[in-house]
Amino acid sequence: MGNLFRRFWLPALLSREVAEPDGAPKRLRILSEDLVAFRDTGGRVGIVAAYCPHKLAMLFWGRNEEHGLRCAYHGWKFDTDGDCVDLPNVADADTIKRKMGITSYPTHEAGGVVWVYMGPDHLEPELPALEWTELPEPQVQVSRWLQCSNWAQGMEGEIDSSHVSFLHRANKPEHGLPDAFTSYLPGLIDGAPELTVKETPYGYVAGARRQTDQPGEYFWRVTQWLVPMFSLIANSSYPRSGRAWVPVDDDHVTTFGYMFNAERPFNDAELAELERGTFFPPRMTPGAHRLPNGYIIDTFLPDANSGNDYLIDRDIQTDGNYTGIFGVNEQDRCIQETLPAAEGNVQGSIVDRSRERLVASDVPVITARRILLDLARALEAGIEPTQAGQGDLYAVRSLAATSPHREFEPFLDAFHTRVMTLQPE
Ligand code: FES
Ligand SMILES: [Fe+2]
Repeated sequence: MGNLFRRFWLPALLSREVAEPDGAPKRLRILSEDLVAFRDTGGRVGIVAAYCPHKLAMLFWGRNEEHGLRCAYHGWKFDTDGDCVDLPNVADADTIKRKMGITSYPTHEAGGVVWVYMGPDHLEPELPALEWTELPEPQVQVSRWLQCSNWAQGMEGEIDSSHVSFLHRANKPEHGLPDAFTSYLPGLIDGAPELTVKETPYGYVAGARRQTDQPGEYFWRVTQWLVPMFSLIANSSYPRSGRAWVPVDDDHVTTFGYMFNAERPFNDAELAELERGTFFPPRMTPGAHRLPNGYIIDTFLPDANSGNDYLIDRDIQTDGNYTGIFGVNEQDRCIQETLPAAEGNVQGSIVDRSRERLVASDVPVITARRILLDLARALEAGIEPTQAGQGDLYAVRSLAATSPHREFEPFLDAFHTRVMTLQPE
């Protein structure tokens, strides 16, 4: 699966984390590989190996200056391509410099995110043409944070439409959830929606149909899932949102949350709501986190976490808030970070899925698992994932709408331009 992920452009960090040329580098771990990101004097972002090839010092300690990152130990210097451009402690440096390059991965900035491609040179894919990556900056809110679980647990929460009626139910705005969410909920109170998954060239589009209180009228939530791990979550209008799940290692994932409005910039009230942590991102603090192998990454650490029981309040849990936990992502993480792992793994790591007892509402999750496993097996057999080379496939939307259509296909046909193209609504 790691090799499959390496066929795609992946979100690596936020552009604003390395805003300044020659500013402080950031430590990252992606797909179990220790990396450092820095913006050079000319504004290019490099993502290179974390360690200097000389005596393996961490380049994070280095000096970011004059178009390169200079190791603090003996001064060797590397540019954003990973080429060694200076070897000040060697007399005939020019002859050996060429051999001292470090791993470097192509980067690209779009949607306020630095993307990285960590696969074979000759297979560089197209950037996914996700709607939010092509909007002006004030119309996109993007953030990232650390989740202590295998990436798949997080991603599966996105496409599990059924849990929204339970885990995220909060019937009193004073419990913290915004009015928008509580007024949206009447449409979700039916906890057993009829689900249809329609496979597409990019993954699938899933429809969850619920009966409204009007006879002959249905409430449809349409969620998109795009390989290998992007989601677009159902909403009736802008702002829309979704998440991308980028593995740090088997036990940690960086969640990238994007919320966007193709029609206008966010206003102050909306930005304030985002900062409260009621949806995504959660309440969090920028900080460093030491991974089990000792490597420290620069990330954003959720305030509610397994170390403080996600700040659960049993009083509001008995007073109508389903979990007693404040924010939507905090509610998700309390589940996803504490699932029992397969033997030999720590809690929150890869789940022993043979123990699950899946039901009809799990079809979207089952389908995503099958598509990913098929792609990974095909790649092992030498067949490349076609999606990686077709960025335009990713130009689709989510939707929530009431409609008299009972079946998904005719419903989707009726809303085709809104869902399957990026035409203005
Ligand atoms: S360890 Fe980096 S220059 Fe010596
Ligand atoms: Fe959720």
